[in-house]
Amino acid sequence: MSTAKLSLDGKEYELPVITGTEGEVAVDVRKLRAQSGAITFDPGYGNTGSCKSNITFIDGEKGILRYRGYPIEDLAGKVPFARVAYLLIHGDLPSEQEARTWRRELTQNSLVHEGMLKFFDSFPVTAHPMNILASMVSSMSSFYPHDAELEDDEHIRANILRLLGQVKSIAAFSYKKSIGQRYMYPLSDHSYAANFLRMMFATPTEFYAVPKVLEDALDMLLVLHADHEQNCSTSTVRMVGSSGANLYASMSAGVNALWGPLHGGANQAVLEMLEEIRKDGGDYKKFVAMAKDKNNPFKLFGFGHRVYKNFDPRATLLRKASDAVLNELGVEDPLLDIAKQLEEVALNDEYFLERKLYPNVDFYSGIIYRAMGIPTDMFTVMFTIGRMPGWIAHWLEMRKDPGGRIHRPRQIYVGPNLRKYEK
Ligand code: SDX
Repeated sequence: MSTAKLSLDGKEYELPVITGTEGEVAVDVRKLRAQSGAITFDPGYGNTGSCKSNITFIDGEKGILRYRGYPIEDLAGKVPFARVAYLLIHGDLPSEQEARTWRRELTQNSLVHEGMLKFFDSFPVTAHPMNILASMVSSMSSFYPHDAELEDDEHIRANILRLLGQVKSIAAFSYKKSIGQRYMYPLSDHSYAANFLRMMFATPTEFYAVPKVLEDALDMLLVLHADHEQNCSTSTVRMVGSSGANLYASMSAGVNALWGPLHGGANQAVLEMLEEIRKDGGDYKKFVAMAKDKNNPFKLFGFGHRVYKNFDPRATLLRKASDAVLNELGVEDPLLDIAKQLEEVALNDEYFLERKLYPNVDFYSGIIYRAMGIPTDMFTVMFTIGRMPGWIAHWLEMRKDPGGRIHRPRQIYVGPNLRKYEK
């Protein structure tokens, strides 16, 4: 193993270097404070590896994203979301028999506990669906026993199936609640994506056939959102789970972290921004200028990424899909034209080029959700449904790590020195 040398206050320290299977290099500073008294400083953790992981690999410079070694281009639109969820959680794609069992169990576990529905009904009709989702997922630890989850794999499996099965039901129920319609239930012969669309748009009065173009588009969107290594919400799930908090409590924390407009909430913010540009007469150049103005806190939502300093491969796939889906649906959306004009201007502007700000996953996803008839305030809920298997995979990996310990960063104190209290 190679080492890194650090000299500090005239002393030399030798630190181990770790190399990943894709050649990523890290200086192991676990013993730095014990040896030198110094810590590292990295607000926002942009240069800090919190763990070793077998789940997802991203190369931000090359625009590479792989789930358990499979390139996202080989999975999105080609492998159903339920099988990709199985891949992320179990480490390999399921056999045909395993896939059938998995899909049946996911449908069987789609029913929300009747006791939870009473709790659900007390939300005001104006409640944001992300708030409902975070609360309902957290409440699952009251409705399903979880004490033995730490040791018993069968118990953990039952809780994972309930989470994956019910997250789409809770999401669809929050939409039905917001429009005053009764909840619809899943059917065992429907795919995960088809069941969600049925639960969103079917009514008891007539048979609803899920349009294949919508089912395929949603399935691809869910796959594209399924995992993204140590992003803000996944790191939150790991952080909360590292204290021994149960699966549901950890996932609920992840939902809340994802809600922020700088993270998963960006897909809703992108649509609101495009809508604002449209209302403002379509002058997208004005918004680009605002985004560049240091004195203006406005950011161009859907652009930039902590890791991707090239095109987000998911945005590339979504840009193509948005054309195809809107054409198939016969939808003419002026917001898509504004999005493309915005992209064109930004990608030729020195400010964006020198900061390597490219469209990210959130830039195009909202256009497709909107074409599918999904309301804007549900967009981040859609992100959550997609990301749930990734969070579960990381929670399991963290929990099963023999060297795992509670996450507890340090700080550099810059507050007042000792002061004497005088009456
Ligand atoms: C997701 O981490 C993940 O993997 C997340 C995600 C996932 O799958 O889990 O990929 C999903 O969250 C995608 C990102 C969605 N968020 C947005 O679209 C919000 C808009 N983007 C920015 O807020 C920002 O780009 C972030 C939050 C995404 C990244 O922030 P960083 O890495 O902290 O970058 P930064 O704020 O330090 O920006 C560096 C420079 C700054 O300018 P200078 O101070 O150097 O002059 O770039 C500027 C920033 O002002 N900048 C932007 C900008 N993003 C960065 N300027 C205008 N518009 C933007 N969108």
